[in-house]
Amino acid sequence: MQEKLINYTREAFQSAFGSQAERIFLAPGRINIIGEHVDYSDGFVLPAAIDKHICFAVKKTKDSKISFFAKDFNDSFSFDVTEKQTPVSQTWVNYLLGVFNAIQESGKEIGGLEIAFSSTIPMGSGLSSSAALECGFAYILNEIFDLDLTKKELSLIGQKSEHTFVGVKCGIMDQFSSVFGKEHQVIMLDCNSLDHQYFEANIEGCSLVLFDSCVKHTHLTSGYNDRRNDVDNGKKILWKKFPEIEKFRDFTIEMLDDARAEMGEISHKRCYYLLKEIKRVEKAAKALSEGDLDYLGQLLNETHSGLSTEFEVSCNELDFMVEETSKELGVLGARMMGGGFGGCSINLIKDENVDIVIENISAKYKAAFNIEMKVYRVKISDGINEYKENEFVI
Ligand code: GLA
Repeated sequence: MQEKLINYTREAFQSAFGSQAERIFLAPGRINIIGEHVDYSDGFVLPAAIDKHICFAVKKTKDSKISFFAKDFNDSFSFDVTEKQTPVSQTWVNYLLGVFNAIQESGKEIGGLEIAFSSTIPMGSGLSSSAALECGFAYILNEIFDLDLTKKELSLIGQKSEHTFVGVKCGIMDQFSSVFGKEHQVIMLDCNSLDHQYFEANIEGCSLVLFDSCVKHTHLTSGYNDRRNDVDNGKKILWKKFPEIEKFRDFTIEMLDDARAEMGEISHKRCYYLLKEIKRVEKAAKALSEGDLDYLGQLLNETHSGLSTEFEVSCNELDFMVEETSKELGVLGARMMGGGFGGCSINLIKDENVDIVIENISAKYKAAFNIEMKVYRVKISDGINEYKENEFVI
C-alpha cells in the first residue's frame, strides 16, 4: 500500500543525488483516541500510529556531510556533522538539526548520509507529521551508525528537538506513537513514567474516521505554548498550596477550586479541563477494552466540549464540524483531535452510516465555510520501521 510513496521517494533520491538509495524507512503519523493536552501534565493518552507515512530514502556516504532533499517542499539542505549546528530559517530543517544536535550532545558519532524524503501525512492537520520527521531521522541515525539508542530515547530525542530547535513545548505523545505504534493496537501511555501497554482497538461494527477541516496550524504560532504557560502557572500555585501531592493527576477538583482565586480564572479552567480529561482517558480505556462503544463515544463528546470551552483550542470550523457530525445518525462520538486551532476531528461512526455521514458533513461544511473537507479512513499501523522488499508488508 505504501508502494507509491516509496517509489516516488526513491525517484526523488535518484534525481537529487544521481544514484540509487540503499535503504528505505517509513515513519508514521498518529491518531489519538482520547487524552488531549494531558501529555505534558502527567496524564494518560490513547494514541495509535496510522498508515500515513514519511518515507525516507537513504544512502551512507564516505564524507562528513548530511544532505537532505525534501521532495514535497522541493528544497534541500546540507550540513557538516563535525560542526555544531544551530537553528536556521527553514522550519523543516530545524526538526532534523535538533535531532542531530541532541544525539551529538550525547557524544555519539555520526557520519555522512544522503536522504530524500516525502510524505503522505498531511501537514498542519494534527496528524503529527513533525514527530514522524524527527523520530524517523533519529531512527535512521540509530540504525545506520549503530548508536544503541532505545526506542524511548528516540522518542525523547524527537521531543527535545522540537523544544530546542523548533520552539514548541510539546508533550511526548506524538513521538512515542510514531516510534512505538503497533498494527491494530492502541497504546495506553502513562506520560509521567512512559510506561505503556497495548490493547486491541476493539471497535467492531464502527470506524474511526478523520475529517480534516483544512484549517492549517503550526504550534509555533497557534497558542499551544500559551496553553502550556497557563497550565504551568496553575500547577505552581497548586503545588505551593498542596506540596504533599506528587503528581498533577492526583490533585482533586476541590483542591483546584481552593486555589482558584490565587491562580486566576484562565489557569483554573485550563487545569479543570486537564484533571477531567485525565479521568476520561482511564474511563475510555476501560470502555474500549470492554467494547462499550456508546460510552466511549460519549467521552469523546465530553472531551470536545472541554477542549472548546475550557481549554479553548478549537476553532469555529472544528466546532461546527463536530456539532453537525454529532447530530448524524450512527455517530457515537466526535471531537477535535490533536493540539487544535485547526486540523482534524476524529469520529466514531457505525460502519453502515459512514458514507452518508461523510456526504452530509462535507456538504454542510462546504456551505458554511466554502471549504472542501478532506476525509481520511486510517488504519492502525506499525511504528517506524525499515522497509525491506518482500519482507515488510503494510
Ligand atoms: C500536539 C503535541 C502533543 C500533544 C497534542 C495535544 O500534537 O505535539 O504533544 O500535546 O498536541 O494532545
